[in-house]
Amino acid sequence: MQGLKDKVAIVSGGSTLIGAAVARAFVAQGTRVVVADIDQEGGRALAAELGEAARFVTTDVADDAAIEACVDDTLKAFGRIDFLVNVAALYADQGPLSPRADWEKAFAVNLFGAAMFLNACRPHMAPGSAVVNFGSTSASVAQAGRWTYPASKAAVLQLTRSAALDLAGAGIRVNAVSPGWTWSGILDQISGGDRDRVERVARPFHMLGRIGDPAEVADAVLFLCSGHARFITGTNLAVDGGYTALGPEQALSPITELLS
Ligand SMILES: NC(=O)c1ccc[n+]([C@@H]2O[C@H](COP(=O)([O-])OP(=O)(O)OC[C@H]3O[C@@H](n4cnc5c(N)ncnc54)[C@H](O)[C@@H]3O)[C@@H](O)[C@H]2O)c1
Repeated sequence: MQGLKDKVAIVSGGSTLIGAAVARAFVAQGTRVVVADIDQEGGRALAAELGEAARFVTTDVADDAAIEACVDDTLKAFGRIDFLVNVAALYADQGPLSPRADWEKAFAVNLFGAAMFLNACRPHMAPGSAVVNFGSTSASVAQAGRWTYPASKAAVLQLTRSAALDLAGAGIRVNAVSPGWTWSGILDQISGGDRDRVERVARPFHMLGRIGDPAEVADAVLFLCSGHARFITGTNLAVDGGYTALGPEQALSPITELLS
């Protein structure tokens, strides 16, 4: 892809499957990567795998001082910041039972973390730089028992539009990707590692009849960072196998059923 070689990206939440796929995809294109995550074991293993093109910096995105330290480290090690990919997220959600503390935690990581990371990188980003935030299909539909996570992701999509406008003058593009169900740390954990079961559950509500791979989300992120997306800003790219385009009738044919 155009415009990625010899550039530098920070990937928050880069220690586990989706973020790690983004980091690997960047390195494959000749981009150097800083993985910023609270998961030290995963982050260190990934940095070791990727070699000199990657660094791991322990970073809690809910902590402004940690974000600043990560930005400083990136500049010292690699000399520039071209791309910021805000992957880090918290899923914990008790729906209507969520106490204020849970709302604060979800927004502190998913929304404020993305906004503060963007603000910390912005003064160091030259024209042609790009930011990709992570939304979700959960940002635009109702899902039972989920209040804090979807609301925080909807806010991330609005942050994307607001930031795109205010950073356009500096030549910085800001976009979002919204994955559908994607094989990830969280799905691995809640399914006990049974991807076939996840596929069976998810099939009816993804037009393509399957969940996504982390690498497929990473491809979309790299496209939005690349020169091929130079006229794209303020948008939300669904990487969801048709999840959001599918209505409540799913792939059923209720009219045909009525006529029979
Ligand atoms: N997995 C899916 O099906 C799916 C669907 C839609 C959107 N998404 C989005 O994709 C992104 C990745 O999701 P995932 O499923 O891989 O999640 P995950 O929970 O497996 O990974 C999230 C990463 O963020 C890190 N993290 C959490 N809190 C942090 C903090 N305070 N500071 C720094 N890092 C922190 C975790 O250590 C982890 O590495 C998220 O933004 C999520 O909202 C995922």
